[in-house]
Amino acid sequence: MFQAVTMVAVDPREQVQALCRRWAQALKGTAERDRRMEFFRRELPALLSDGALFEGLLKGIVKGDPYPELRQETMFANELVLYRDPGRIFSLRLYIFGPGEFTPLHDHTSWGVSGAAYGQLEAARYRRADDGSDPGHAELILCDRRVLRPGETETTLPFDEGIHRTGNPADGVTLMVSVYGTPLRRLYIQRFNLETGRVRRVFPPRIQKKMLAEQALKAMTGPGPGLAPGG
Ligand SMILES: [Fe+2]
Repeated sequence: MFQAVTMVAVDPREQVQALCRRWAQALKGTAERDRRMEFFRRELPALLSDGALFEGLLKGIVKGDPYPELRQETMFANELVLYRDPGRIFSLRLYIFGPGEFTPLHDHTSWGVSGAAYGQLEAARYRRADDGSDPGHAELILCDRRVLRPGETETTLPFDEGIHRTGNPADGVTLMVSVYGTPLRRLYIQRFNLETGRVRRVFPPRIQKKMLAEQALKAMTGPGPGLAPGG
């Protein structure tokens, strides 16, 4: 006699948390950057191939579920934080790219391992041709451009070793999933303008707002003309 097997849909949040806790456990005692990156290069493809999980996550977002939390602060508008390891060993993030959409050229403050869960993912790496002495200017040379198919991964390194641009070179949609390591001591990432060579510092929104308030306060209370009553 056959017994009916009931398929219980796993909650995407629980599934992500269970996976990430397992990763954190497995990485205990592995402090070396290259070994951590190697670990995620091995682990990420299985996650990337879990179409049902990503479908579940997207449905939750559309429905307004509390997970993933859309109000969490991110550096990119298309970025969603799926998990932050309490021990700060890594974070897991999802990026949604529409047709032909790319990030600006940028660097990171940590290493990263990324791959596509859906669609095509283009990753272009650049290196600096200048000596880095001018913080506001960079000359960049394209050194590698690849289009990854779902399941393939790509790595990036902190600061000048990881200047890149990622996005969707095709008509459809791309889901990029990235694991980033512990951020190194720099509060901002940099965005690069390839045409003008201009380098812009981008701070997390809460720090940016604090800096703006400090600047405004200095202008209003410092020497020089104050604010006229009534604006
Ligand atoms: Fe990036």
